[in-house]
Amino acid sequence: STIVVENSDREKVHRHTPNLSMAPGSAENLMESTLAAARNELTRGLGGLLDKAVPVETSPRDGAVIVGTRDSSPIVSRYISARDLASIGKDGYLIRSVSQGTVIAGNTDIGALYGTFAFLRLLQTHKPITGLAIAETPKIKRRHLNYWETERLYAGNNPAGTGGLNGENGAIFNFAATGASAGKNLPVILDRYIVAARAMASVGINGITINNVNANAAYLTPAYIEQEAALADALRPYGIKLAVSINYASPTDARFAPDTLTNQQLNPYGAAFQSWWNRRARQLQAAIPDFIGFTVKANSEGQPGPQDFGYDHGDGANGVAAAVAPLGMTIFWRTFVYNANVDNDRLKRPYLEFGHIDDELQPDGTRGRFAGNVFLQTKNGPLDFQAREPIHPMFGRMENTNQAIELQVTQEYTGQSTMLSYLAPMWEEVLKTDTHGAGLVGNVVDGTTHGQSDTAIVGVANLGNADNLTGHHFSQANLFAFGRQAWNWTLDAEDIADDWVRMTWSNNRQPVHTIVKMMMGSREALVNYQTPLGVAHQFRSSDHYGPNPAQWFIKDDWSPVYYNKADSAGLGYDRSATGSNFVAQYFPALATKYGNIDTVPENLMMWFHHVPWNHRMRSGRIFWDELVYRYQMGVQYVTWMRQTWDTLRPFIDTRRFSEVAAKLSAQETDAADWRDTSVNYWKEFSGRQIPVDNGPLS
Ligand code: GCU
Repeated sequence: STIVVENSDREKVHRHTPNLSMAPGSAENLMESTLAAARNELTRGLGGLLDKAVPVETSPRDGAVIVGTRDSSPIVSRYISARDLASIGKDGYLIRSVSQGTVIAGNTDIGALYGTFAFLRLLQTHKPITGLAIAETPKIKRRHLNYWETERLYAGNNPAGTGGLNGENGAIFNFAATGASAGKNLPVILDRYIVAARAMASVGINGITINNVNANAAYLTPAYIEQEAALADALRPYGIKLAVSINYASPTDARFAPDTLTNQQLNPYGAAFQSWWNRRARQLQAAIPDFIGFTVKANSEGQPGPQDFGYDHGDGANGVAAAVAPLGMTIFWRTFVYNANVDNDRLKRPYLEFGHIDDELQPDGTRGRFAGNVFLQTKNGPLDFQAREPIHPMFGRMENTNQAIELQVTQEYTGQSTMLSYLAPMWEEVLKTDTHGAGLVGNVVDGTTHGQSDTAIVGVANLGNADNLTGHHFSQANLFAFGRQAWNWTLDAEDIADDWVRMTWSNNRQPVHTIVKMMMGSREALVNYQTPLGVAHQFRSSDHYGPNPAQWFIKDDWSPVYYNKADSAGLGYDRSATGSNFVAQYFPALATKYGNIDTVPENLMMWFHHVPWNHRMRSGRIFWDELVYRYQMGVQYVTWMRQTWDTLRPFIDTRRFSEVAAKLSAQETDAADWRDTSVNYWKEFSGRQIPVDNGPLS
């Protein structure tokens, strides 16, 4: 069904013709193409690593790599029993050294593909490949990306608005139907889609919501559905399914005329509303049989939602969920809400809106109103993807609702495409935080705490048309780490970095050791020069990149000033019992810990306390001195990274070496700007001098 056409351009174009004689996704279709993908990975990977062509045969010689399921391969069946496979689930895999070589087996072709990537990773990272007895199963079922198209896109060659080559906008998938890029629009499949699919599958990502959460209803129109079907067909062999973000009020959108509803018909329990969504979902399912469902941002940042029509989030989510439940689809309802009427403290708002719905007694005597096919999708922290936040209080406290965690892979507040900041330590910190009542956050997300059978983790990852997909070479590490942690959140961020460095840069001891070290301290450095000791959100409004601690936004709950509360007494937001009492949304033991200035971790201090300038810190310094010291340490780390990278010149190809060097030098300048702007502003309030032992602040 696919003809490969050589394009004169950089990209190879595959003209997609839907294969109408065979339902896309039918087992037969899937099986062939997924195992073909595994075979291609092996021939390409082994061929590259061993520097010679590797033959593909049906009867193995000694030293062979045998891949498949018991159904697809009698040789696999010979070595792997049904009992061996019983415990690894749908996506899991076994890798075994056997007399004839290595067997890679799954219960499904996708499992076998994941095993193939894992085996190649062993080779690529120079791990032993003899005596293997590996059994792997993902801890979380749905490991998804949310793709925000051109919003927060830091990886495109032609950023939004610039027009650019071929009229592309820098996004990875081309949907626009007009302009000079028309010949490269879906349903045409570009090579880079397959590159992205391979990258995602190599770390086990198995779903993608393809459009921005601030959703355009165009993605539900027949013209777009046709394009989405082509994309789904291209991604399917790699085990990646599609979802779409929707706008709650889409039924009133004129583009669906004459099938449109009135505002009055947006009653989530009404037959009109439910059958409208059911019709859209059916159209999607007819074109994409394994379509996941919808991601919904409602009553958030100006998006419409059930509250506009007198209903709450539970009603809205359940209304859409009921419409799609007969089709086996799922709703990811986001909890990123901060309606100022709910509470003065923005951080308290989501739990106040959602918590009681989870706790509500139902007619059948059970608790919790959210439907079984609804996930609440909640950011890791209560604000918005800052470099360090406390955990979102909803983790653990929503016992009767499926909870998905949303992490941001695209680096909106963490250096965008300029700064080297490896985020796996942050996600590890979040997932391994003790809720003091429901286990670790990871236990909540993977379903072990409350016994949920359906589980999900979501990464907001904006792949672009840049050759390296992510803009900064080191941003690839974040995509890689997200996938690895989504598969197994107990992994160590440093081990993941070690794998990535070996696969990306070199297996030579010196660069491996040096780059891993650079990466591992990079997030803490970022926290230090941007927002040390828990002072939240000090970003300028224009781009969320640089500092502006003095700024008032039109809405005060976006203002740096609202978060820093700088005055002559000190700095930080009192959320203890003497302040907003946000801490009470955590389990009691955690509330006590965070609510006391002497027991709160210092790195979260200003999230919870207005810290007096002369407060004595654990280092022995007073708060003001410690604060300035942290800014300085952050900048010094970047200077160290820049200098250290220079020592790696002999090990790295010229192009990537100089691209990273240029970014590190920009990062150093921008980190110093953060330090100087912030410290000089705080100084007006503290009335204190910059401590001499901190060295000169430029
Ligand atoms: C942030 C981000 C927005 C996004 C929003 C969300 O505020 O800046 O671009 O729409 O998060 O998560 O919905």
